[in-house]
Amino acid sequence: MTGARHLYVHLPFCSSRCGYCDFVTVVGRAGEHGGYVEAVLRELELERALLAPKLETVYLGGGTPTLTGAASLARLLDTLPVAEEVTIEANPETVTPELAALLASRVDRVSVGAQTFSPRLLQTLDRVAQPDDVRRAFYRLRDAGIDNISLDLIYGIPGQEPADLARDLAEALALEPEHVSAYELEAKPGTRFTHAHGAELERQAESMETYFERVVETMTAAGYRWYETANFCRVEQRDLRARHNLGVWLGRDYLGLGVGAVSTIESRRWRNAPSLARYIAALGQSLEDDAVRPPREYEELSAEVRDTERVMLGLRLDEPLPLSGLAASLDERELERLTRGGLVAHGDGCLTLTKRGRFLGGGVTARLLA
Ligand SMILES: C[S@@+](CC[C@H](N)C(=O)[O-])C[C@H]1O[C@@H](n2cnc3c(N)ncnc32)[C@H](O)[C@@H]1O
Ligand code: SF4
Repeated sequence: MTGARHLYVHLPFCSSRCGYCDFVTVVGRAGEHGGYVEAVLRELELERALLAPKLETVYLGGGTPTLTGAASLARLLDTLPVAEEVTIEANPETVTPELAALLASRVDRVSVGAQTFSPRLLQTLDRVAQPDDVRRAFYRLRDAGIDNISLDLIYGIPGQEPADLARDLAEALALEPEHVSAYELEAKPGTRFTHAHGAELERQAESMETYFERVVETMTAAGYRWYETANFCRVEQRDLRARHNLGVWLGRDYLGLGVGAVSTIESRRWRNAPSLARYIAALGQSLEDDAVRPPREYEELSAEVRDTERVMLGLRLDEPLPLSGLAASLDERELERLTRGGLVAHGDGCLTLTKRGRFLGGGVTARLLA
């Protein structure tokens, strides 16, 4: 085993819960940040042998990683293995000049959760930050010297109109970020959010394709590369694609640390249980005092499953997917049919979706898989 070159760390703390959010989060509990960071560092020690000697990426996601107390966050960033690209997710309202300075000396990339620049839609999403907070956070990070900032946007929000989306894209572009992620809102059935906005979510679902096309047309017209279904980067001499996520889309192994974190290493995937109490109970002791791995669910991945995932994720990218070893996962006749229909291009042992195919996305990939 050569070891995973990508490391994810989950920091679950949030100041309040946004109605649409389905991530593993814990509200408040400021007193537990330090203990949690120590537990994560112990999990790292237990799993260190799974990592390659040199890491390509470290990604701190949440939750709200930037809500973690400054001393604990600095300790974590200073203790994690060195990597070629370190990214942290930041909520706009947490970005003070001090935090920006702390990050500037320790990370390469900051991903700011803007979601929308409409105060009305921010309220629908239960967001704490206002549009001015997003702009202020962005400039504070820039002023501190961070030269790789990504903005997250969400579309299909209840009450959103096409003009709102156009404004969101214009506001995001005005900040000249290196990278933009634009996600279709996913609302889980059975949640309070879905109950509260049911009819409106249905109306939005009908507009999703149009929104998606608008996003792609606007971002590419502004000179951004549409390198993944929901991701865009500025085209410069340096490659501004999100390297951590790219690793996942390319089917590489990654180790995940923290409550609820997922790891995929060779033929095994595991997910730490989502309970903070159980995570800290397992790892709250020092290693000499018998810290143990947190409760987890393990899944064995057959070669077929990994190949299918490789096709599903790989076709989200604008780069050709090399087919060597993957041919058995594909339905030959569908491949020919989709090629004739102008949705798929293949040749030289590689496969890509055409622009039209990428707009249809998952539907085309599902037909391709045998
Ligand atoms: C791990 S999340 C949270 C990061 C950060 N706490 C925040 O709220 O900005 C990262 C990104 O996923 C996206 N996201 C979260 N929940 C989503 C949902 N239900 N549907 C679509 N996108 C979502 C948001 O754009 C968010 O910025
Ligand atoms: S701040 Fe982000 S992670 Fe926390 S509840 Fe809101 S969307 Fe979820």
